[in-house]
Amino acid sequence: MNKMNPDGWLFTRAYAKINLTLDVLGRRADGYHELASVMQTVALADTLAFRALNGRQTEFFCDLPALDGPENLVCRAVQVMREATGCQRGVRIELQKSTPMQGGMGGGSSDAAAVLVTLNHWWGSGLKQKYLLELAARLGSDVPFFVLGGTALVEGRGERVTPLPDLPGLWMVLLKPPVAVSTPAAFRALTPGDYTDGQATAKLAAAIRNAGALPLDGLANALESRICQEYPAVAESREAFLQAGAQLVQMSGSGPTLFALFPSLAGAATVYQALLREGRQVWLTRTVARAEALAGRQYD
Ligand code: C5P
Repeated sequence: MNKMNPDGWLFTRAYAKINLTLDVLGRRADGYHELASVMQTVALADTLAFRALNGRQTEFFCDLPALDGPENLVCRAVQVMREATGCQRGVRIELQKSTPMQGGMGGGSSDAAAVLVTLNHWWGSGLKQKYLLELAARLGSDVPFFVLGGTALVEGRGERVTPLPDLPGLWMVLLKPPVAVSTPAAFRALTPGDYTDGQATAKLAAAIRNAGALPLDGLANALESRICQEYPAVAESREAFLQAGAQLVQMSGSGPTLFALFPSLAGAATVYQALLREGRQVWLTRTVARAEALAGRQYD
């Protein structure tokens, strides 16, 4: 999957994420929000293919017309790498999307991080991880997490990423309600009453460090109740998810995607099939540990 094939294409996987917790501590002077979150890589992934070009140009193609074009974060990531390294080698990148657009799962951010890490390796640039994290933060608040992947504590605007021990693997059902939620609008709608004290994230991070386990009652998302109020389709989907047999349902990021975790594939599949029969947009997937997330990007 990740070796360069004889035609000179190099393939890499960009996994999506969920937020196991998302605390919003308050609004900052720069307009962003101070966050504390435990993020987790999931097996749903986009595929990027890289090929060297003669000349100095950047070419890009995405199979989803809405995301095809130079304003895609992938192209901005190439530009950031060119500025950081001075490298002028031509490159063509093709992106096949499997993660939902505007889903709260960081699909575009993961694609951008995959470009930074892959070009750093491929161009032999030797940028240290600390610098890659800085470049990632310039591209977007969720991008630094994807440089590391696995399970991690994410703080600040999203730029402070501390790896946590891998969780035991869990099965997961994802349900995308039929609405688009804009991240800036989701954050703008928050009032001080929605802010949380960071305890949910601190407790979950401590539990993962100490016990290596995930207390399912420790999940929380400070954006969720307002999104459910503003988008009835999200509240309705949440109810349907519970009715289908999920014990605990939570929104990822700024939504609208909802997730439920299961220790067994059979348990997850029962809920997945029930939702599928209702015609809902669902995925049956699982958590991905750091080594597996990074293996999607090993080249030799
Ligand atoms: O960093 P990024 O461009 O991905 O963020 C998108 C939007 O989400 C920001 O413009 C901001 O409105 C909101 N946001 C925020 N606080 C964060 C991250 C994102 O308010 N920590």
